[in-house]
Amino acid sequence: MSLVDFSVIDDSSLITPSFEERVKNNLPFLARVAEGEEKYQDSLGWHTVSEWAGEEWLERYISLADKVRRHDGCLVVVGIGGSNQAARAVYEALEEKCDREIIWAGNTISPHSVDKVLKTLDGKKNIFVNVIAKNFQTLEPGISFRVMRDYLRKIYGAGYKDHIIVTFTEDTYSWRLAEEKGYITLPFPQNIGGRFSSLSPISLFPLAVAGLDISAMARGGEMMEKALKENFSPSNPALRYVTARNLLCEMGKSVELLCYFEPRFFRFAKWWKQLFGESEGKDGKGLLPMDVCYSEDLHSLGQFVQDGKAVVFETFLSIGKKDYSYCLHDDDVADGFSYLDGKDFWDINKAAENATLAAHSRRFPCLKMEIDSLDEETFGSLFYFFQFSCYISCLINGVNPFDQEGVESYKKDMFRLLGKWK
Ligand code: PA5
Repeated sequence: MSLVDFSVIDDSSLITPSFEERVKNNLPFLARVAEGEEKYQDSLGWHTVSEWAGEEWLERYISLADKVRRHDGCLVVVGIGGSNQAARAVYEALEEKCDREIIWAGNTISPHSVDKVLKTLDGKKNIFVNVIAKNFQTLEPGISFRVMRDYLRKIYGAGYKDHIIVTFTEDTYSWRLAEEKGYITLPFPQNIGGRFSSLSPISLFPLAVAGLDISAMARGGEMMEKALKENFSPSNPALRYVTARNLLCEMGKSVELLCYFEPRFFRFAKWWKQLFGESEGKDGKGLLPMDVCYSEDLHSLGQFVQDGKAVVFETFLSIGKKDYSYCLHDDDVADGFSYLDGKDFWDINKAAENATLAAHSRRFPCLKMEIDSLDEETFGSLFYFFQFSCYISCLINGVNPFDQEGVESYKKDMFRLLGKWK
């Protein structure tokens, strides 16, 4: 069973004539990615899910999470970019299943946000903090950790250190400092960069604290790994997805819009944007990854998509099985909506989705990714699917998927302005 069904809906016939042949031509890229290239060995810790989400690791994350859960409190996750997006995507989508609260910090330097986090914490019992940073030089989590340390010290005195779990790279200055201070430590995998860390302690530990089933998430990742690595044929969904999007890029599209009719995907879209934007956007190449939450955004960007400059194509992320239901009751007010009496919001939403697909695919090919249901297992699959796809896409475009030299540029200016360097 495939956990993600991929299809191309191309009523415009824009890519149909060359698509299948191009998929075949890209097969060597699939082979290289499935194999995992020697030159990227230092960044491929995510490539085999069991390396950082195997049974022993899961037990370790769960047993540490249980120590936090025992106190019936909340967890503040301090981290930015790849160091919080995957966990936050799952947490916000599955919040109703969670029995512990996570508060997100360290992803902004807005004083309003810092104040808001502290106000949210006021009066809460048993506060724990998980600071996540591969390279503890990142300004946002760095100074937020200082704020949180101070806050914890005021509440817990010398015992504050028992409330701090750091996920840092082993054998670094910050790791040694954490050990010296007596904080609880978890390793940030040396061979995984932030945006590829969805199936590692970076997201699995906080999600275990929240009460989610991280074993199911790892299982979903492993199922997808197997499905993608063992299928060397043109039917490989990751190969088909990246071939379609790269073909569209060649044909002049410069924006890929991830569209969803389910607001629970909002944070996932942020993760996806980072993955593709930071991995592919280099050397003047790459598609700009953006997202729209329909049906709301049909009333804003829908006009541009249907009729504006032809730079956009869409990838629909869709849920197959009905997981929520709310039926519109009959009403004696002549409000013009009686044709919907008794109809389920789920079905109305699906009709809007299918209608949008039909209308938009007459203008450009729409790519569609359908999952069965939104749960931990599916998230594991989706994370692996997109990470694997992104790696293939970068190879097709001849860029290094795992570096991000571009983000250093503003940092130099910022550090100079802030007086770090003269
Ligand atoms: O994917 C990446 O490498 C980045 O987005 C990092 O995750 C982000 O910059 C945070 O870095 P760090 O974990 O070192 O604070």
